[in-house]
Amino acid sequence: MVTKVAFRTMALTDLSAVLCNEKSAYSHPWSEGIFRDCLNQKGESWVLITGDLIAGHGLLSIGAGEAHLLNVCVNAQLQGQGLGRKLTVHMLSQAKRRRAKSLFLEVRPSNMAARSLYDSLGFNEIGRRKGYYPGVTKREDALVMAKELI
Ligand SMILES: CC(C)(COP(=O)(O)OP(=O)(O)OC[C@H]1O[C@@H](n2cnc3c(N)ncnc32)[C@H](O)[C@@H]1OP(=O)(O)O)[C@@H](O)C(=O)NCCC(=O)NCCS
Repeated sequence: MVTKVAFRTMALTDLSAVLCNEKSAYSHPWSEGIFRDCLNQKGESWVLITGDLIAGHGLLSIGAGEAHLLNVCVNAQLQGQGLGRKLTVHMLSQAKRRRAKSLFLEVRPSNMAARSLYDSLGFNEIGRRKGYYPGVTKREDALVMAKELI
């Protein structure tokens, strides 16, 4: 377990480390352009730091009293040590700080680690989006999950 972590808002200068973590963790990683777009929005873009390493990132969009967890990612080499839980709890507290009433997210049905994490944090499955994610041979559905924040 990694116990000492810090969070700070993501800066453009973090993008090379963020992209490295993103590519290590996802079969279909976001491009640099998507991260740049997020940094230009009025959402919340955070990095998780352990020691002097950027170990992961979390991004929220916020509007009309609702927050959307767009991305939660821990470097593949650093997973399974409690960082993903700390990062997701941090993103929940940022959504609350921004006075969002609910937090929504999408997750691949096959992503058992993320689903187990979200279940344990009190997210409920509220729907399914057909063919939402790109896949190796065919597109994969997304489970839509939500958590009330008030
Ligand atoms: C999902 C992710 C953020 C979890 O990060 P992590 O640092 O490995 O997670 P933690 O070590 O904090 O574990 C938190 C919980 O996740 C679940 N989990 C983690 N690894 C798991 C695994 N291999 N199998 C099943 N559940 C797992 C457990 O519920 C765990 O809770 P526990 O500590 O009480 O057992 C990480 O796997 C990741 O970055 N995956 C790739 C990106 C991704 O899929 N993001 C989510 C998009 S919706």
